[in-house]
Amino acid sequence: MSQGEQAQRRAMESLAAVLLVGILLQLAGCSPPPDPVTCTHGTSNCTVTNTYGSFTDRTICHAANVVYPRTEQELVAAVAAAAAAKRKMKVATKHSHSGPKLACPGGSEGTIISTTRLNRTVSIDAERQLITVESGMVLRDLIQTAAAAGLSLPHSPYWYGLTIGGLLATGAHGSGLWGKGGAVHEYVVGLRIVTPAPACHGFAMVRELGADHPDLDAAKVSLGVLGVVSQVTLALQPLFKRSVTFVKRNESDFTAQVTEWGRLHEFADVIWQPRNGTVTYRQDDRVDVSTPGDGLNDLFLFRPAPTALLVSGRATEEQLQENGTDTARCAAAQEGSTSRLQAFGFTNDGVVFTGYPVVGYQHRIQASGSCIDGPEDDLGSSCAWDPRIRGLFMYNSGFSVALSKAPAFVADMQQLRDLNPDAFCSAIDNRVGVVLRYVRASSAYLGKPEDCVDVDILFYRSHTDGMPRAHADVVDEIEQLALGKYGGLPHWGKNRNFAFDGAIARYPKAHKFLKVKNRYDPDGLFSSEWTDQVLGINGTPNIIKDRCAIEGLCVCSDDSHCAPEQGYFCRPGKVYKNARVCSSEEDY
Ligand SMILES: Cc1cc2nc3c(=O)[nH]c(=O)nc-3n(C[C@H](O)[C@H](O)[C@H](O)COP(=O)(O)OP(=O)(O)OC[C@H]3O[C@@H](n4cnc5c(N)ncnc54)[C@H](O)[C@@H]3O)c2cc1C
Ligand SMILES: *[C@@H]1O[C@H](CO)[C@@H](O)[C@H](O)[C@H]1NC(C)=O
Ligand SMILES: *[C@@H]1O[C@H](CO)[C@@H](O)[C@H](O)[C@H]1NC(C)=O
Ligand SMILES: *[C@@H]1O[C@H](CO)[C@@H](O)[C@H](O)[C@H]1NC(C)=O
Ligand SMILES: *[C@@H]1O[C@H](CO)[C@@H](O)[C@H](O)[C@H]1NC(C)=O
Ligand SMILES: *[C@@H]1O[C@H](CO)[C@@H](O)[C@H](O)[C@H]1NC(C)=O
Repeated sequence: MSQGEQAQRRAMESLAAVLLVGILLQLAGCSPPPDPVTCTHGTSNCTVTNTYGSFTDRTICHAANVVYPRTEQELVAAVAAAAAAKRKMKVATKHSHSGPKLACPGGSEGTIISTTRLNRTVSIDAERQLITVESGMVLRDLIQTAAAAGLSLPHSPYWYGLTIGGLLATGAHGSGLWGKGGAVHEYVVGLRIVTPAPACHGFAMVRELGADHPDLDAAKVSLGVLGVVSQVTLALQPLFKRSVTFVKRNESDFTAQVTEWGRLHEFADVIWQPRNGTVTYRQDDRVDVSTPGDGLNDLFLFRPAPTALLVSGRATEEQLQENGTDTARCAAAQEGSTSRLQAFGFTNDGVVFTGYPVVGYQHRIQASGSCIDGPEDDLGSSCAWDPRIRGLFMYNSGFSVALSKAPAFVADMQQLRDLNPDAFCSAIDNRVGVVLRYVRASSAYLGKPEDCVDVDILFYRSHTDGMPRAHADVVDEIEQLALGKYGGLPHWGKNRNFAFDGAIARYPKAHKFLKVKNRYDPDGLFSSEWTDQVLGINGTPNIIKDRCAIEGLCVCSDDSHCAPEQGYFCRPGKVYKNARVCSSEEDY
């Protein structure tokens, strides 16, 4: 190893330490993420962004003003005011976690309606196991409120900083194939939504959608284009416990297990470490509440991280990306892997990990996110991706592949890996790996049409527009395999632009969704350029220009869409020949 590589490796060890130090800091202060909306004049002349401080296409969105309704009445007034003025509008949430610019009102003179202050519990009915909350409530608070009443939301995303309104709008999910499955919208039994209305009705109205209302299948997963969801009613279950064990195995039966595992365990998921050839299976099942254990899920990645380590870790990553070798990047990936750390951050009692299984209550196991829990203004530590710090800056691609096609998809990814295993150290964030979760077919018009495996990949993102990533072709090809060869669907709240091109055609009930949209919001006040593009109403999310494929704005069809000056050319995929990826000359 050269001196430079040794230095890089030492610095990467400090990146691993970021995650370890998180353990020691769990009770220390930490600044929660900033408000995604900022204005120059009180509540006027505003911009909106997301939790990373940058939408995936790097646009900055402007709006004329922001309003912060505290009640449904104030919400109706806000929608009426904008509708009367024929102004575009869009909901922003407390932290706005979606990568694509879903939170931007159309044009640049719209109104942002923030749900930050719509965060109360409306009612909780322990007998009927129902909870009704305002849509801006953060998942953490929902889960805790339910638990305090002896109830559980059976599935949720793994990160509790999301709001119920935002996570439903994008079809967000946890993992499971049993019963109704891993998506939260499967547990919605009613909601109240505020939509524009004719002048004679005061320009805005509340529509109440009960469990049997046909429009509920449109409103459950709405991309925010139908109106503002005011309240959501969810069907809960009696509080239960789970027993979790992470089982690490080799890849010998991965293609068979990718479908089987989801049938075997209620909360199953799978993490693939491609470079290492290992698969970590989450063996996770419901157990009787009398089972001893007070386990806690406090994932390392979602804990507060010290600023100094985030900054030095990022600097190392940038250096490795731009000037490192495959050997150095693989060594660094090995050091940084969270699977080296104990149980990903699960503990048996909230303090230490003493061994599997970890048994604990659903509300302590289903999601985590302690980096949002701190008081304001302590920038000694924060969430790793806080944009006020030059720390973690990543892309998150998330897409589903039908369960029946998952074995072939996995086999193709393995074949791609076998051609150059070291490329995967640079291409994919090895601190996490490729995460596979299970989601069931839904009646929601923009939900999954069939049972599927949802694939999550985190990977390096440069702060410089058009800067190529090392082995960019690997992720490009995996995405095109899933979306092209296997007809997969992009997660509405993740992904780069090109992933959405034409995707709406793969939703058999999209036309039903558009009918409801035309009825609720005939003037498209809740629609934006972006939602018109992804819903196939007007235009395409692709942007064709120099280096567009490097930024995921297009699939390349010409070398200029890659970075020919830096040795990246548009080439066919290595396993999926129909793919067009930006390949470095050295790899070809
Ligand atoms: C760290 C992290 C972890 C994540 N983990 C998961 C995971 O485990 N599983 C998963 O599926 N996804 C996950 N995601 C992605 C996430 O689910 C989506 O980005 C989610 O939509 C974000 O919710 P939000 O509350 O931040 O909403 P936003 O991103 O702010 O909003 C999303 C959309 O919903 C609209 N909207 C919000 N509230 C309302 C409302 N009340 N009425 C009408 N429209 C509304 C907004 O206008 C916007 O169009 C994660 C993202 C991050 C950053
Ligand atoms: C509005 O905000 C932008 C920055 O987002 C700023 O450049 C501009 O000067 C502001 N306009 C007014 C009138 O203050
Ligand atoms: C709602 O938000 C306010 C302001 O952010 C906060 O003080 C309050 O605790 C929240 N309420 C609930 C029920 O979470
Ligand atoms: C993979 O693990 C199985 C047991 O789970 C074992 O039988 C097999 O020999 C292992 N294969 C390799 C290549 O190590
Ligand atoms: C990868 O494999 C090597 C050798 O088999 C092992 O030492 C290492 O712990 C593994 N790393 C991960 C992240 O699984
Ligand atoms: C990579 O090397 C070039 C040339 O030496 C240098 O200008 C650049 O700053 C380096 N990049 C990083 C991130 O260290």
